[in-house]
Amino acid sequence: MITLKYHGHSCWEIDNAKHRIMIDPFLSGNQFAKVKAGEFDTMSAILITHGHGDHIGDGVEIAKKTGALVVSNFEIANYFSNHGCNSHPLHIGGGAAFPFGHVKLTIAHHASTGPNGEPLGNPAGIVLTIDGKRIYHAGDTGLFLDMKLIGEMSGPLDIALLPIGDNFTMGIDDAVKATELLNARVNIPMHYNTFPYIVVDPREFVAKVKARGREAQVVAPGECFELA
Ligand code: NI
Ligand code: MN
Repeated sequence: MITLKYHGHSCWEIDNAKHRIMIDPFLSGNQFAKVKAGEFDTMSAILITHGHGDHIGDGVEIAKKTGALVVSNFEIANYFSNHGCNSHPLHIGGGAAFPFGHVKLTIAHHASTGPNGEPLGNPAGIVLTIDGKRIYHAGDTGLFLDMKLIGEMSGPLDIALLPIGDNFTMGIDDAVKATELLNARVNIPMHYNTFPYIVVDPREFVAKVKARGREAQVVAPGECFELA
């Protein structure tokens, strides 16, 4: 059993019996997060999709305290190394196996400047394979046709975590199209309602995906999705 706990925005905490992994650990400044960075004592890994503050988030604090391995693009991995954290660099199209699972970076159409405006490589999506289950976290991105390739080459995907908030990323209708291309078993919306620019109703996404015969579910902040 794998548990995906949603902390709002694009922040997911993924647990199996052995490992805890965080993707885009944005807690401070995230109105939906019910936990604080300092509350985590153990963390195997932190995966970062791109350099924006709402994705790097509290990564340095959590990685320093827990010794978690930070896995991201080369530039972001260096950023974390320079802040005294353990890191492993990947780049788009590349993957590597770790004790906690396999991580592959995919393309994302977005930007990746760091907290001080410094360039931090290219933005990415992530395919995490853990206990034989495949989880796709799209990061921040617009819709792209190569999602079909991600679904075919990394698939079958068990879960697709997709931004739906519009303005900075896909909106609902583009995210609904993404579910067709990816063909994941379950689609879960993220990156909405955190800021005034990205207010949408996630139930509209779920209804539209279901109307096309696919599975989708809203996971409220603080709640979990159990992947069996
Ligand atoms: Ni971003
Ligand atoms: Mn973002």
